[in-house]
Amino acid sequence: MSKKPIKVESCRCSGEGSHEISILNKNDQIRREVREHYKNTAQARISECCTDNENLIKEIVENDPKLYSEEELRSIPKGSNLGLGSGNPVFLAEIHQGETVVDLGSGAGIDCFLAANKVGKSGKVIGVDMTAEMIELARNNAYKNNYENVEFRLGEIEHLPIADNTVDLIISNCVINLSIDKSQVFKEAHRVLKSGGRLIISDIMFDHELPEKLRAAFDETAGCVSRAEVKEQYLDRIRNAGFNEVKIVDHIIIRPQKKRVYNEENPEETKKITMISSGKKAELELTKDEMKQVETAIISAHVKAVKSSK
Ligand SMILES: C[S@@+](CC[C@H](N)C(=O)[O-])C[C@H]1O[C@@H](n2cnc3c(N)ncnc32)[C@H](O)[C@@H]1O
Repeated sequence: MSKKPIKVESCRCSGEGSHEISILNKNDQIRREVREHYKNTAQARISECCTDNENLIKEIVENDPKLYSEEELRSIPKGSNLGLGSGNPVFLAEIHQGETVVDLGSGAGIDCFLAANKVGKSGKVIGVDMTAEMIELARNNAYKNNYENVEFRLGEIEHLPIADNTVDLIISNCVINLSIDKSQVFKEAHRVLKSGGRLIISDIMFDHELPEKLRAAFDETAGCVSRAEVKEQYLDRIRNAGFNEVKIVDHIIIRPQKKRVYNEENPEETKKITMISSGKKAELELTKDEMKQVETAIISAHVKAVKSSK
């Protein structure tokens, strides 16, 4: 681990060593929080004796027809769909028989199983997740449904347990926004891809910068949105990792559900919104102008990139 001190504006401690320690502790704590959250999500799923898969399928297909089709959801193991994704990278990936696919942050395996149906017996899909309980769920789903071309590995996407230049396609669904080191995730993705390999991911990001007050409120929720970045910064990280043809291929704006009505005569009037992400809440009083900025700020985007052939 590097001994180079990392400067943080908010750090009030003195001495270069202390700077480094405080950053490491903060990052460890964030990782712990994320893992704890998904551990609880997985355990809740394990303990539900009669999970209503039919209702979940209906909800996803009706609320967001662009996410997964009913046919796709019926083609995979019941317990693999936890409703945690933000898009459908497999749909965009044009996967071929015999390919090797890696899913970053595979959860209970939904996208791995969709990909496994496409790569066939001659191909292979590897799901990587840092939450042991998610890996257990996913492995059970594979075992009970006789998937022999899928494997789930416990690990962090910042340090992939996968050899160099061995993968045709990397997918990921609503995960990289949670990472404390997104540049490192993209470097790792680049390392394991063969030349000409594709990166096709769905993720949450900000469409535009927000004033500090609004950004700070998102930070407090500590969930998906809290470490999301503005789209240009996100794409630059992918380019800087060595990828080419980096682009957002489609996106949707995620709007707060309740619409607020303001008094047109009073521009200073504020209304309350509650932001919830990964179970944590932050409350904010916003003027009409601020509300407009927040309402259009969060997007779910599909991003594509290629590791250039040498
Ligand atoms: C929002 S869920 C998405 C799961 C899955 N992709 C889906 O669509 O259902 C995020 C998943 O990523 C995993 N995760 C978060 N940060 C990670 C990291 N740094 N390394 C590995 N897994 C991570 C969590 O354990 C969790 O299973």
